[in-house]
Amino acid sequence: MTHPPYLHPDYKSTVLRAPSKPLVMPKLGPESVELTSPVFGHQELGPLDADLTRQHPGEPLGERIIVTGRVLDTSGRPIRGALVEIWQANSAGRYAHGGDQHPAPLDPNFTGAGRCLTDDDGRYHFVTIRPGAYPWRNHLNAWRPAHIHFSVFGTAFTQRLITQMYFPGDPLFPYDPIFQSIPDEKARQRLIARFDLDTTKPEWALGYQFDIVLGKTPMEES
Ligand SMILES: [Fe+2]
Repeated sequence: MTHPPYLHPDYKSTVLRAPSKPLVMPKLGPESVELTSPVFGHQELGPLDADLTRQHPGEPLGERIIVTGRVLDTSGRPIRGALVEIWQANSAGRYAHGGDQHPAPLDPNFTGAGRCLTDDDGRYHFVTIRPGAYPWRNHLNAWRPAHIHFSVFGTAFTQRLITQMYFPGDPLFPYDPIFQSIPDEKARQRLIARFDLDTTKPEWALGYQFDIVLGKTPMEES
């Protein structure tokens, strides 16, 4: 099974968040206006949106990295013009968000949010800082593995995937209920980016590849 269940008690938020009753299927199908409406255009995005290291006057602290990959459909065809958004903690593991008050420093030169559109090859490309692990209060001594949150819109505004990208070899994987909520080992491995020397730029940044295949959502599979 690829997707985590809505209810995974070790991940405590799911206990309150998971639906307790069957979903109500809408009478209006996705064949309505949502599937034909335009999604995003290049004019919506700024030139620095995909470079999280250049959004402030100074450079953020931490390890500069390149994160790139392709957005594909289940047949391996590139999805062009898809909006890919990311958000993440800084190198110290702190989010620039009021909800994150744990005692790690904020970085005045790092907001931690970026976006871009995929090109004709379905490829997205970000320059950012490797995020740090951070504590959360799910259970005693709970720490999230370093990760980058991803949102990908498909070919229509109603098609959206939210997921997380992890880094190879993280010692926190076995202890993370969110990562472990995905039942299938191979599906978990697909969330781990691949270090790639060809993507790595000499004297500049390590490179990681992370491809995303957009399939049907769990709701559509019923
Ligand atoms: Fe996070």
